[in-house]
Amino acid sequence: MIDIHAHIFPRITQAEAYALDPHQAPWLKVVDPDRGMIMRGTQEFRPVIPVLWDPELRVADMDRLGLDVQIISATPIMFGYALDASKVADWAARMNDLTLEYCANHPGRLKALAQVPLQDTELACREASRAQAAGHVGVQIGNHVGDRDLDDEQLVAFLHHCAVNDIPVLVHPWDMMGGGQRMRKWMLPWLVAMPAETSLGILSLILSGAFERLPRRLKLCFAHGGGAFAFTLGRADNAWTYRDIVRQDCPNLPSSYVDRFSVDSAVFDPKALRLLVDVMGSERVMLGSDYPYPLGEQRIGALVGDTDLLQAAEKQRILVDNAKTFFNLS
Ligand code: CO
Repeated sequence: MIDIHAHIFPRITQAEAYALDPHQAPWLKVVDPDRGMIMRGTQEFRPVIPVLWDPELRVADMDRLGLDVQIISATPIMFGYALDASKVADWAARMNDLTLEYCANHPGRLKALAQVPLQDTELACREASRAQAAGHVGVQIGNHVGDRDLDDEQLVAFLHHCAVNDIPVLVHPWDMMGGGQRMRKWMLPWLVAMPAETSLGILSLILSGAFERLPRRLKLCFAHGGGAFAFTLGRADNAWTYRDIVRQDCPNLPSSYVDRFSVDSAVFDPKALRLLVDVMGSERVMLGSDYPYPLGEQRIGALVGDTDLLQAAEKQRILVDNAKTFFNLS
């Protein structure tokens, strides 16, 4: 099994974080051998567990779970898109080097996605290519940079760079909308806003016509099963059909673009997974767990492996084959 959506958080020191931004940049406080705390400035952000920075513990966990390969990426709080671009370029390079170090003892088991300073296209392209040469199998980006969504000309230019250089891209929702009073409890930003962020990323690429300008060979994958996208695609098609303002920049029916991207399998319900595979096609769904966070799949691969709503050939594609092709794994 190949898991394409799993996070790390390296041992970032307080001094490194303060050099980037003393209030916003995250760092790791190791509390004891079993516990850490992601810090922002002097504020506690989130309690975390050592597999995030200890590769030996992760590989032991992968053995326990029967997982062959995990493709690891930054925890989105590490992105730094709102901070000074040239400082974040250095920061991203440092994070990417740490991520490769994390994988170094287990080159066959752990593969890395790079992060980039997406607020500056030139710097982002440079770091994506540097990371590719250094051994990263792709990049992970957030679904937006402030008010700029994936249809932004500069972000499309970055995706174009990835397409022509065969750099696979995983899009992860972050910096969730509606973060004020209305979603302050019960992890609502994760439950309501994250699926909406991902759907916004996909629909902005479709309805802007960006897919018409991007090369077909672009390898693009959206986390969390594409969020709300699959279940609401019929609504988008209906809107495109009956409202000219919906189709003004998009020459074809929204559902005709599903062959331009992939999604992971992190939807936690066999019927939702069946719908996702029916909408996307089984060649465009890949196992993604969101390990090791509590909102991830705890027994990685169980949703796909256990259901009788998928055929054996579909399971094989989702658990193994699609990721091999997408990330150019031998
Ligand atoms: Co995630």
